Amino acid sequence: MASEFKVQFPGTGFPQLNVAEGFSLSRTLDVQNSPILFGCRTGICATCVCLVEGNGSGAGEDEKEVLELFAPDQPNARLACQVKVDADLKIVALLEEG
Ligand code: FES
Repeated sequence: MASEFKVQFPGTGFPQLNVAEGFSLSRTLDVQNSPILFGCRTGICATCVCLVEGNGSGAGEDEKEVLELFAPDQPNARLACQVKVDADLKIVALLEEG
């Protein structure tokens, strides 16, 4: 039986989402209203940079290189477009709309 995890956006009015294990966060947020903005969706532009609490798998090498440029002092930073949901997550956008 597939598991579901909770994805929350603390400090915002956005509701909690329930996401199937292993599902792409960016695909989920395509169809759900959320505070996370996306651009390239390929891990290059860093529009989706955010702080993620709870993700067990961590960033890959290419993602780490981008994060060193855009969020150098943030050990919990991730590119939301590269996150697969593998735990309950709390997500805070680092770039604001506008
Ligand atoms: S949308 Fe461009 S890096 Fe995630």
